[in-house]
Amino acid sequence: MTIAEAEYAVATFVDDVRAIVAETDDDKKIIQRVIPLAKRIATSPGWIREAFYDCDSDQGFGITVLHEEADHTLLIEAIAWLPGRGVAPHDHQTWGVVVGLDGDEVNVNWLRQDDGAKTGYAELAVHNEVSVGPGEVIAFLPDDIHSVRNDGEKTSLSLHIYGKTLAYIDRSEFDPDAKIQRPCPKRVRNRA
Ligand SMILES: [Fe+2]
Repeated sequence: MTIAEAEYAVATFVDDVRAIVAETDDDKKIIQRVIPLAKRIATSPGWIREAFYDCDSDQGFGITVLHEEADHTLLIEAIAWLPGRGVAPHDHQTWGVVVGLDGDEVNVNWLRQDDGAKTGYAELAVHNEVSVGPGEVIAFLPDDIHSVRNDGEKTSLSLHIYGKTLAYIDRSEFDPDAKIQRPCPKRVRNRA
């Protein structure tokens, strides 16, 4: 695939997701309709560039923004995860769809046990662990909490689609052992 064709593949995907979001603001319906598109672009991976695998060693993963809507309503990014690394439990405060591209990523889904009444405090329990491999999908509603780790020996890669630009919204990170809820750290992001 040439660079022009690769850009076209991503641009077409963006247009398709944009059309879905324009038709409904029901998060569950958006997710249902984005999932097949995400699977389709994951199984025709000629648009994936080597640079998408670049990781920030402090952060443990690397983010390449592929598309960000000017009004912050849509964010599409490739995220690479270093072997043995991951990210702490967090929410997204918007809908999200993640499709695996390369390698297996363990997604741990957490359930909140407390009522959220105490500021900065959260009790979480593991709900389940899902391994997301190439072409496999996991989806999130705004308050869903997950953590991710790459148990493999190679850097993994996945495509993430969110209903808002995460850098512009207040969302949370959690420390389940210390029972702490705090503002999610700003991620290091690269532009495609
Ligand atoms: Fe996430």
